[in-house]
Amino acid sequence: MDVVIVPTAADVGTHAADVVAARIAAQPDTVLGVATGSSPVGIYRELARRRAEGSLELGRLTCFALDEYVGLAPGHPRSYAAYLDREIARPWGLPSARVRAPEASRPDLAEAAEEYEQAIAAAGGIDLQILGIGTNGHIGFNEPISSLSSRTRVTALSAQTRADNARFFDGPDAVPTHCLTQGLGTILDARRVLLVAQGERKAAAVAAAVEGPVAARCPASALQFHPHATLVLDEAAASALTLPHHHRPVPDRGDGAVPGSPAAAS
Ligand code: F6R
Repeated sequence: MDVVIVPTAADVGTHAADVVAARIAAQPDTVLGVATGSSPVGIYRELARRRAEGSLELGRLTCFALDEYVGLAPGHPRSYAAYLDREIARPWGLPSARVRAPEASRPDLAEAAEEYEQAIAAAGGIDLQILGIGTNGHIGFNEPISSLSSRTRVTALSAQTRADNARFFDGPDAVPTHCLTQGLGTILDARRVLLVAQGERKAAAVAAAVEGPVAARCPASALQFHPHATLVLDEAAASALTLPHHHRPVPDRGDGAVPGSPAAAS
């Protein structure tokens, strides 16, 4: 894994936006995997800002979300479909048909899961997957002990995740109990992965993912198998790493390239 440590949470957003923008500049019809939740919001707003100022064209993207809650009415403001509309489709100028989430209100969820996998494949696969990480090490909603080769499926949210996400709802009991999520195998199929984490509450999960054994106990540790995984962390999220000499802040090369980014690698 390529670990980049930047001083603040705001720096995570701008640095990661540089990585995503470099990918889109190289390939305007990039298929982007988009996490929801709070961690990537800085990226999405920075990309929207660059589009608004005319320095970045986003109109040829196709986006696939990682997951969706089961049991929320379509259009529920806390659904991830509503999040995608708010943070991505409208500010990026994309039709909603090109910003998809798993269809978790369909009667046959196994069929919806299978069709989501097929839609990703039909789009040519995900070029760059943006990820956050749960305090328990989940990516997507692949909770601890998920199979490392799992595919899109219905699964239960852990008590920890429901407690963590209560801040988005009217209390813990309002958080759905189940979701439709891409699997770890689905995520590992993405050509590149970019995980962002901010704040001390993510530090233990980040350390387990980066330095721990690859284990179902920490689903994000599966990214150790990925050949092109970059983590962008603020200092608080990096604070439990015990091998700091492997994770120094990357010096500015002064040429505008983002170390660890697809552009810098090419
Ligand atoms: C969201 C997702 C989750 C979140 C994780 C962190 O689509 O799949 O894995 O990335 O729960 O959430 P935040 O960013 O809200 O701390």
